[in-house]
Amino acid sequence: MLQLSSISSDEKSIQHERMNIVIVGHVDHGKSTVIGRLLADTGSLPEGKLEMVKDQCLRNSKPFEYAFLLDALKDEQTQGITIDSARCFFKSDKREYIIIDAPGHIEFIKNMISGAARAEAGLLVIDAQEGIQENSRRHGYMMSMLGIKQLAVCVNKMDLVGYRWEVFDSIRREYGNFLREVGIDPQAFIPVSGRNGDNIIGPSPKTDWYKGFSVLEQLDCFQKESPRVDKPLRFPVQDVYRFTGYGDNRRIIAGRIETGKVSVGEDVIFLPSGKRSRIAGIEGFNRAAETTASAGQSTGFTLETQIYIKPGELMCKSGELQAKSSTHLRVNLFWMSPQPMIKKKQYKMKLANMQVPVWLTKVKSVLDASELTTSSNRQQIERHDVAECVLESLRAVACDEANDIPQTGRFVIIDNYEIAGGGVILQAEESTDTLLSEHVRQREKSWDHSSITQGVRSGRYNQRSALVLICGSVGTGKKELAKALEEYLFNCGRLVYYLGVSNSLLGIDSDIKATNERDEYLRRLGEVSHLFTDAGMIFITTVSDLDDLELEIIDKLNQPNDMVLINVGEGGFVRRKPDLSLEKVDLASLQKIHELLQRKNYLVEYNL
Ligand code: GTP
Ligand code: MG
Repeated sequence: MLQLSSISSDEKSIQHERMNIVIVGHVDHGKSTVIGRLLADTGSLPEGKLEMVKDQCLRNSKPFEYAFLLDALKDEQTQGITIDSARCFFKSDKREYIIIDAPGHIEFIKNMISGAARAEAGLLVIDAQEGIQENSRRHGYMMSMLGIKQLAVCVNKMDLVGYRWEVFDSIRREYGNFLREVGIDPQAFIPVSGRNGDNIIGPSPKTDWYKGFSVLEQLDCFQKESPRVDKPLRFPVQDVYRFTGYGDNRRIIAGRIETGKVSVGEDVIFLPSGKRSRIAGIEGFNRAAETTASAGQSTGFTLETQIYIKPGELMCKSGELQAKSSTHLRVNLFWMSPQPMIKKKQYKMKLANMQVPVWLTKVKSVLDASELTTSSNRQQIERHDVAECVLESLRAVACDEANDIPQTGRFVIIDNYEIAGGGVILQAEESTDTLLSEHVRQREKSWDHSSITQGVRSGRYNQRSALVLICGSVGTGKKELAKALEEYLFNCGRLVYYLGVSNSLLGIDSDIKATNERDEYLRRLGEVSHLFTDAGMIFITTVSDLDDLELEIIDKLNQPNDMVLINVGEGGFVRRKPDLSLEKVDLASLQKIHELLQRKNYLVEYNL
């Protein structure tokens, strides 16, 4: 027995199994009609809705369509969950269903990637009379790419072909072959008529040659995905809240656990920065404090040590399979924008909560997802192409290969504030030849070098040039130290310059945009350092809360010139050991830096 879909708050508290199903297919093949039928025939519509819509049609003298039911439900509040044009809700005896009507690729990909409506299974609708069309194939391919392996095909509008088995069978054979080629083994082909209701919730006498399940029975046959709690921990940091009032010095790291679980006292690592700490507490929102949090939960953590974490980082657990960090991602990408994806253009990649600039650097092969033909010598990716390609970023991206953990192995590409493509990560490649090194190489090649060499400059200025970078948290007195150092060296007759552009506010802001601004700031800082050090100067500057990856950006851009790294306070770097670590800024600090510069031969003593 099927029940009405309106759920009272009492019922809501009972946890039913719930499954998200996406419905796709070529335009006008009958997706909305099939859904309308499912809702109507399972008694999932609010009382009187069907009659009301039929009445309206009669009054406007237009023929009734089951698809109209979806529009009529848009403003419906009684179903207990918000319904938009793309989502419907009903339940069978077995479980609750959310059917996601994907009006176009973009919506579909967006929902799938953002996790807003991750589908566990799919229904693909093909018009029996029109047969298999371009998008029938493309959508099938996208299902495969996005890892939706459970699929049933509704061969719709059987009424238009006289319910003939031959028509059904030929589509079943041809499309079945196509699906198997893209790695999907369809669970069922069902001959249906959305308009007449054949094989929607039960067997139809008009297709007595068909012995399989109806659409509803097939939905109940789909398996729930294995619980994501069993997988390694993946917690994309969405926000970092700082509490400063009343001596409260906590930072709460907030987000939603995608996979796995974590308990108080366990060691965690943040990627790509590589920072480590231990879970001190789990802060529930409107919930009592817990000791373990697991997949699906939106929650916040406090850490035992105060490390500076940025939104977008991925928290993993020590001792488990960790996410990859790479600037080179080999991906399968589906391109949707009318403008082709081209090389040398900056795009934005959004993966979990991270958003980074990326460039297309290699197109390995391009597939026509409808014809399944590949071409290997393409330079750009056209609309509707599926390409195996390499995307590169300046800063490493923390991610998983989609085969391991799909939740953190999918991404979208944003161009001009719009989603232009989406895809899955095939491999996080290891590479030392990064975009940055390439940039530095090119810069050095095209630089019109002065005829005065570094050696000659050093001789004249009695010093070797270097970038002196003073790092630490906000409020450690770095700036005062940097300025004092400049003054001190200046008074000793050294050629020195302190750059006092403050960036302490950038990056602390939880806005993702700020991360990009910070990257741009660091990039400029690196280039400016390079100019000053090239001119033979000792160039002093400070940056707050710098991590290893950011340090690498500055260091690389300043190359081939030297960098002297000084860290103030606790925390700091994971991979690179500072040349000098100061617990705090005090009267001895200046002397220590001076000695360091002498020891490293940056300050050549005068020959009198
Ligand atoms: P888009 O959302 O625009 O891509 O279309 P859709 O796939 O949702 O198709 P929709 O359900 O709106 O149906 C398109 C047309 O096909 C409508 O005029 C329906 O009445 C008609 N149609 C749908 N199912 C059947 C069917 O089983 N038999 C017949 N004869 N017509 C059908
Ligand atoms: Mg529709």
